[in-house]
Amino acid sequence: MRILFTHIKSLLQVREANKQALVGAAFDELPKIDQAWLLIEDQIIIDFGEMKSLPKLHFDQEVNCNGKFILPTWVDSHTHIVYAGNREQEFVQRIKGKTYAEIAQNGGGILNSAKTLQQTSFEELYLQSEQRLKEVIQLGTGAVEIKSGYGLTKEAELKMLKVIQKLQENYSLPIKASFLGAHAQPKEFKTSAEYVTYAINHILPEIAEKSLADYIDVFCEDGYFDLEDTERIIKAGNEYGLKAKIHVNQFKSFGGIQLAAKHNILSVDHLEVLTEEDVQHLKKADTIAVALPSCSFYLGINYTPVKQLIDAEIPLALASDFNPGSTPSGNMNFVVSLACIKLKLTPEQAINAATINAAFALELQDEIGSIAKDKKANFMITKPIPSYGFLPYAFGTNSIDQVWINGKRQEH
Ligand code: NIG
Ligand code: FE
Repeated sequence: MRILFTHIKSLLQVREANKQALVGAAFDELPKIDQAWLLIEDQIIIDFGEMKSLPKLHFDQEVNCNGKFILPTWVDSHTHIVYAGNREQEFVQRIKGKTYAEIAQNGGGILNSAKTLQQTSFEELYLQSEQRLKEVIQLGTGAVEIKSGYGLTKEAELKMLKVIQKLQENYSLPIKASFLGAHAQPKEFKTSAEYVTYAINHILPEIAEKSLADYIDVFCEDGYFDLEDTERIIKAGNEYGLKAKIHVNQFKSFGGIQLAAKHNILSVDHLEVLTEEDVQHLKKADTIAVALPSCSFYLGINYTPVKQLIDAEIPLALASDFNPGSTPSGNMNFVVSLACIKLKLTPEQAINAATINAAFALELQDEIGSIAKDKKANFMITKPIPSYGFLPYAFGTNSIDQVWINGKRQEH
């Protein structure tokens, strides 16, 4: 099946995958073709060009995109879409003045979500998670990473990862799974180190054996997992062939970035608190920095100081962090808007960070993240809008008309 898209106002992010994520001048630019056509065959982008030099092509269907933009779908490289129930009560507690940390100390937070998830059946967990996945696809997300970490027992962590596996089977967008056993210390364990030993010796081997995860993750944070725990997790993951992508520097900077850089891990995510020393360590690694501005927005904490990262030519990606506690939204359009409004990225930089650089953060740069021949036909068509900068400018407005994944239009 060949489909020809014609009269595209502008075809955005037209670029081959480079070897490395974008930094410097390349990060500032958004290559495009105005008045364009695009040809896809089955799941793949075949060719594109300017309308004025449209060759005679054989095709089965034409889609007129007059006044509309086409850009690659968002790549959300950090989510916790699989969870049970919600934490709306904690939302109200925070409105009334309690902090995120106080709520966690009083039995709320991650342990609260874990309790609910442990009591939720596989089928029910699948249905709740699927609903969120469907929703973000309609909002333009065309590839996603999903973490475990609300199970915290072998049984419940495996349940989460099997839900992710079933989503992978039933949905055509690329989904990567991360094992985040070290998300919070369950009460039954005396120390975080003791729980890490359990996670490494009793949960990880089965996950690896059943190929249920692509990556390993840990919440490296004061009051959660320290540097020693974090290094054990990174090393154990590596032994089983799982690269690390870690939560670090959300509230405090205490050496997690240095550790991540030493192990040259795939990505460091959050970074709301960042020292000059952290930046210097990151500079020496191939690690991608992932900012999660919706989390900062929702919790009222610092926004990742991305200027420091950009000036140091550290590759930057954007993700949603969709989860029940710190970011109950997976809307990447809002993330891109916030990145412009609060992180002071230009629309070009924000779109790069949420597409091609984010694809690098999931090692999917050869398949998705830009409009290039032989890449997957994963893209979105906007409504008729005046310019692509209108996407982040008109925050909260749904400017997306159609989402195409693997060459198929996604129906509501
Ligand atoms: O990425 N920071 C750690 N984990 C999640 C939120 C956890 C929760 O509150 O449920 C995050 O923000
Ligand atoms: Fe997270």
